[in-house]
This record gives sequence, structure tokens and C-alpha cells, in this order.
Amino acid sequence: MNYDRANLLDLSVLACIEKECFPEDAFSLRLLKNLLTNAKSVIIKVTTPSGKIIGNIIGVRKKENNKTIGRICSLCVLKKYRKKGVGVQLLQLLQEEFCKSGITEVRLEVSTHNEAAKQLYKRSGYQMTNTILRNYYNDGTDAVVMRKNFFCH
Ligand SMILES: CC(C)(COP(=O)(O)OP(=O)(O)OC[C@H]1O[C@@H](n2cnc3c(N)ncnc32)[C@H](O)[C@@H]1OP(=O)(O)O)[C@@H](O)C(=O)NCCC(=O)NCCS
Repeated sequence: MNYDRANLLDLSVLACIEKECFPEDAFSLRLLKNLLTNAKSVIIKVTTPSGKIIGNIIGVRKKENNKTIGRICSLCVLKKYRKKGVGVQLLQLLQEEFCKSGITEVRLEVSTHNEAAKQLYKRSGYQMTNTILRNYYNDGTDAVVMRKNFFCH
């Protein structure tokens, strides 16, 4: 698999991938376009050797008080390619991008029902916080906030 920064040419494919992963909460084309062009956001795509995009991760740098933290907005791997380490690798590469901007704290929201994602994040060193966001998703499910502090080499 190849991992690389996504660009505007990837817009429509990324929109389809988001829809497959988040049928109820997919980012709109407009929001994705904004994320692809905004200097504060990072989208990393993963491509098969034949050039098909099969997943992506979206992160945003966010100022909080005097500190910049990273936020993970989306992580998606197409069904057929799951459970092969692609999600963990995308997460690792986004963390490295964050490190380049001096970010050492990352937060994310994940559905309380999403065992696969919660496991992936736990395995990658993220911890659950006490913050539960009620009715966060369009289907009415809650989100839990997870966070990680790390050192950059
Ligand atoms: C969550 C998601 C990105 C995981 O991607 P993936 O490429 O399959 O993940 P990986 O293969 O890197 O898995 C890493 C670890 O996550 C955990 N994990 C992944 N899928 C899992 C599942 N179905 N059940 C339980 N744990 C799971 C495991 O601990 C796994 O490590 P292991 O294979 O050594 O046991 C993928 O399932 C997905 O796109 N889901 C739909 C969208 C989504 O829910 N995104 C997260 C929202 S924030």
C-alpha cells in the first residue's frame, strides 16, 4: 500500500469512501474540499499498488488556549481492506504530521458503540476521557472523547 497526502484531485473518491464508512454522517463534498485546501488540515490517503484509494484519515490543527492540539476528524478503511493494519498505519502517519507542527496532544471523538475504532485507538495509546457527547451522531448515538499525549522524535 502507498500512503500519501491527498489533494483536490482525490475529492470525489474521498467523498465516496466517507459515504461507505459513515452512511449517516459522511462529510459533505463542500466540507471535504475545504479540508483538502485548508492549511490547518491534513488528509492522508492510502492507495493500492494499482492506484485505487481505499482509505483515508483526516486531522486538523486546532488552537486551544495557548497550545495547538491535533484533532482526528475521520478515519476510514474500505471494508474489503480492513483488519490488515491499514488503519493503524494511517493513524501513525497522521501523528507524525502533527509532530512536524510541534503538536504533542491529539483528541478525537468516537461512537461509544464503535468497538473496532475504540480498540484501534486504545492499541495506539489513546485513552478514554470522561467526556461523553450525547446524541453526537445523526443516528442519535453518543461519542466518547479519547486523547493521547506523545513525544516527538
Ligand atoms: C475502524 C477502522 C478504521 C479500522 O481500520 P483497519 O484497517 O481495519 O484497522 P487495523 O487493521 O489497523 O486494526 C488495528 C487494531 O484495531 C482493532 N480492530 C480493528 N478492527 C476491529 C474489529 N472489527 N473489532 C475489534 N477490534 C478491531 C484491533 O485491535 C486491531 O489490531 P489487531 O488486528 O492486531 O487485533 C475500520 O474498521 C473502519 O473504517 N470502520 C468504519 C469507519 C470508522 O468507524 N472509523 C472510525 C471512526 S472515528
